[in-house]
Amino acid sequence: LADTGMTTFDPGFVNTSSTKSAITYIDGDAGILRYRGYPIEQLARSSTFIEVSYLLIYGELPTPAQLEDFTDKIRRHTLLHEDLKRFFDGFPRNAHPMPVVSSAVNALSAYYQDSLDPKDPEQVELSTIRLLAKLPTIAAYAYKKSVGQPFLYPDNSLNLVENFLRMTFGLPAEPYEIDPAVVDALDMLFILHADHEQNCSTSTVRLVGSSQANLFTSISGGINALWGPLHGGANQAVLEMLEDIRAGGGDTTDFMNRVKNKEPGVKLMGFGHRVYKNYDPRAKLVKAAADKVLESLGVSDELLDIAKGLEEVALNDDYFISRRLYPNVDFYTGLIYRAMGFPTRMFTVLFALGRLPGWIAHWREMNADPSTKIGRPRQVYTGYTERDYVDLSGR
Ligand code: SDX
Repeated sequence: LADTGMTTFDPGFVNTSSTKSAITYIDGDAGILRYRGYPIEQLARSSTFIEVSYLLIYGELPTPAQLEDFTDKIRRHTLLHEDLKRFFDGFPRNAHPMPVVSSAVNALSAYYQDSLDPKDPEQVELSTIRLLAKLPTIAAYAYKKSVGQPFLYPDNSLNLVENFLRMTFGLPAEPYEIDPAVVDALDMLFILHADHEQNCSTSTVRLVGSSQANLFTSISGGINALWGPLHGGANQAVLEMLEDIRAGGGDTTDFMNRVKNKEPGVKLMGFGHRVYKNYDPRAKLVKAAADKVLESLGVSDELLDIAKGLEEVALNDDYFISRRLYPNVDFYTGLIYRAMGFPTRMFTVLFALGRLPGWIAHWREMNADPSTKIGRPRQVYTGYTERDYVDLSGR
């Protein structure tokens, strides 16, 4: 907006000229999503999260040698500084994991001061690898803190997703059995969340980074923006909505009437989107995976039936059709996370784990662009015109 000299900062205004990016393409009307030109459907079917992370950050699919080198570098940075591990002791057990994770990510700026300079390519590379390697460890420790269980060190014989699952659900007293179905499903979900153009949290990362703040602290800002229930926090809010409907007897009609009557605070969470005015292509893939994953885990969840019932009603109801409201990526993901054993409050942390490579890619693109100026949106002033001061005695 500053570039165009416009003075109105309208959150609904998508100024396509203000940010240029070569990372992700979305066609909201056609329901198209491509990472560096590759359709999300193909990546979800054929790629892996670590390969998609490389693609988003470096712009090309890696050769076998490049992938091995990238994987090996990440593997060697999964440990946290021992003092940073003690950082978790200071949080109350009942803290939501999102502020714990964003605080720990910001604290990386204090523990890894040799990788803060955004103008030093080697330090940018080192902070990139450290974040990709350490966020799964931080996320797992935030969960362990909430359940009062001991932290497990990473086991680098495992891949990124396997290591995260073992650090989250494993116990020192017994071996953790990796379930390939869970690993594959979580890997695919991370791919689906990996980037999404200039969404709220990615724009936050770019804005913070535009002041030449370091990568760790910029990503911490993105995690905080993601927590909001209108953004990444929606996957938690969807489960809470489904639980409320079930607690009320499972009648979706009454709930949908409350939505359509615009009862304050009542929305069909997991529906609608700032850009997609068609079915979110990611939601299609998640919905298809939900049935498969729950079946492979031997889980039957009546909340999935309630969710499908809500979708069926919404897709045939003029209130939603006329407003072009369709399921978004958050509508079904929580049901899969729940079947995997994650508590609802970890769902948005999982979103952050998936979105990390996209945030890093955008920060690096902004940081490398010599035309980047510090972000400075303008406004329309709606306050008083000039007036004179009145002494206390005169008020
Ligand atoms: C994500 O930007 C991204 O790319 C985000 C994301 C990513 O990958 O980064 O895709 C991830 O954040 C997905 C969105 C998750 N949030 C939710 O599911 C929360 C529920 N959704 C809504 O809050 C809403 O749809 C938003 C916030 C997502 C979009 O808000 P907008 O742009 O204000 O919606 P709109 O302009 O399209 O709304 C048009 C109408 C309005 O009604 P009217 O004033 O015209 O009568 O539809 C209504 C809205 O009130 N509406 C809804 C609704 N979403 C919009 N009514 C009921 N339930 C909803 N969910």
